[in-house]
Amino acid sequence: MYRSHTCGELGITDVNKTVTLAGWVQTVRKFGSITFIDLRDRYGITQLLFGENLNALLNENPIGREFVLQATGKVSERSNKNPNLTTGDIEIKVSSFNILNTSITPPFTIQDDTDGGDDLRMKYRYLDLRRNMVKKNLELRYAVNRAARNYLHSHGFMDIETPFLIKSTPEGARDFVVPSRMNPGQFYALPQSPQTFKQLLMVSGYDRYYQVVKCFRDEDLRADRQPEFTQIDCEMSFVEQDDILNMFEGMIKHIFKEVKGFDYRATIERMTWEDAMWQYGNDKPDTRFGMKITNLKSIFNRESKFVKGELINNAGFGVFDNAETVLAITIPNAAGYTRKQLDELTEWVKRPQIGMQGLVYIRHNPDGTLKSSVDKFYSEERLQTIAQAAGAAKNDLVLILAGKEERTRKATSELRLEMGERLGLRNKDEFKLLWVLDFPLFEYSEEDNRWVARHHPFTAPKPDHIDIMIQNDPAIPDPAAYLSHPYAGIKANAYDMVLNGNEVGGGSIRIFRRDLQEKMFKALGMSTEEAMHKFGFLLGAFEFGAPPHGGIAYGFDRLCAILGGSESIRDFIAFPKNNSGRDVMLDAPSTIDNVQLKELSIRLDVQAPTSNP
Ligand code: AMO
Repeated sequence: MYRSHTCGELGITDVNKTVTLAGWVQTVRKFGSITFIDLRDRYGITQLLFGENLNALLNENPIGREFVLQATGKVSERSNKNPNLTTGDIEIKVSSFNILNTSITPPFTIQDDTDGGDDLRMKYRYLDLRRNMVKKNLELRYAVNRAARNYLHSHGFMDIETPFLIKSTPEGARDFVVPSRMNPGQFYALPQSPQTFKQLLMVSGYDRYYQVVKCFRDEDLRADRQPEFTQIDCEMSFVEQDDILNMFEGMIKHIFKEVKGFDYRATIERMTWEDAMWQYGNDKPDTRFGMKITNLKSIFNRESKFVKGELINNAGFGVFDNAETVLAITIPNAAGYTRKQLDELTEWVKRPQIGMQGLVYIRHNPDGTLKSSVDKFYSEERLQTIAQAAGAAKNDLVLILAGKEERTRKATSELRLEMGERLGLRNKDEFKLLWVLDFPLFEYSEEDNRWVARHHPFTAPKPDHIDIMIQNDPAIPDPAAYLSHPYAGIKANAYDMVLNGNEVGGGSIRIFRRDLQEKMFKALGMSTEEAMHKFGFLLGAFEFGAPPHGGIAYGFDRLCAILGGSESIRDFIAFPKNNSGRDVMLDAPSTIDNVQLKELSIRLDVQAPTSNP
């Protein structure tokens, strides 16, 4: 027996028991003839006390950090208790010990406030994983996993595995591909999600499916994206949108309860995509705080008029009058912002990532007067109208951006988030869920002059938009007027779940009729042959009694990161990749030798690097 107890469980009630512990040496502290060692394992830290009698033995066998140590002794009450440790009331008076393994000096200290930088910790991830903080993250991940599984199991969902070596699934990213040795010149694709398989399972009659499953996407990485990530992937038959929303509101609330001990009682708001875009400037708004966007363009339109075919603007502030759009947010109780702070904010919106020319402000002073950076263009009365339209009251600050529609909307959304951050309104311990509904089914691709699926090609239109899709030709005769094409107005029967401004899940009701699915492929510019080549299996399956169905997938890593209060999903993945998609511990991806290439019938077009970057 290596141990009788763990390093995290002994307390005052165990005093006088003889115990054996095994774990890693966190610290060694010598005080004259006695030595204290903090012994760590997954469960906690226990202080070991080596008395004078063991001194000679310790000198002969010096113990260093991260040694694996087994120690036997009596539990005794500590004179100076440590309230920060669960085992802080006691220590073990060691009678005998055994060094189970030695360790070279670790490259960074294995404690919460480590001195190891990101790269070093990733290279030695197995050491990083010994740190309490990282362990807590993995524990939270497991708790979310368990809660989701328990909920789904109790609602009749069945976990069914689907293959990884498949044919491409279109989720909007590039595929990772795997060459087939047995089929020279042919490749498998790794699934971007199990989308088509879960739909086939519905055709097979497994009416409630789920899987906690790896997905692979070759796309640009960010803090909330990894090339391989995990989804809680679900699908149900005989459901409409509301059935799915209700079922998964139940799941997320259950997760909150189990993982955070938090009873999420509030009704989860449902917002249309259009409202999200107009009011918050993006499709995953952070609704923990207000400061909605107001469109002021109509006010400034009134300033301009055409005289003999020429645009004359009365106000004289061309930036507003000539801009495609003018958007404002009102910051409550911020009229006291200093000139310096406003100048700094102006620089902030001018950064290339935000890309605006400038920032206009109106201060609504406590005495009711107004002060603005465009004072000389507008009378106090006009400023009052503008401030009022932006919903400003006394003591508020109105920030206004003008420019091209899409960029300005994006910039205003970023500015809103930044102000929310600066004002401390984006509290990590506050959770706000939201459904975003009624996305457009299609987006227009200027490059290819065709429609692209906003979600994926298996998403059904809203029930009353199906006929528009069936009855109209998807061809776009006049690219300049694509917005007036009937397809531009078709809404998807799709939904995203947003948590604190992050898309944590997304799904849709699916197309389950072959004719509609064929029409969708056609709209996406696929010929009948191409559609058959890529998705013949699905179109075929739809001919054998496919039930109405729909589903959703949660970004499991993302959900964990937000619940754990972190920006980066990497903190919640045991062995993540870095921002260039590399596993620095394994040094992957790496080259393969010529024999292997030959077996795969692959000749390289590039000189493979001899050493990896
Ligand atoms: P979607 O592509 O929206 O839908 O993905 C579902 C959720 O997965 C998360 N996610 C990611 N997480 C980390 N790294 C990534 N690279 C990454 N990409 C996506 C997001 C997202 O909300 N088959 C559909 C689901 C369905 O229709 O049922 C799908 O995959 O949190």
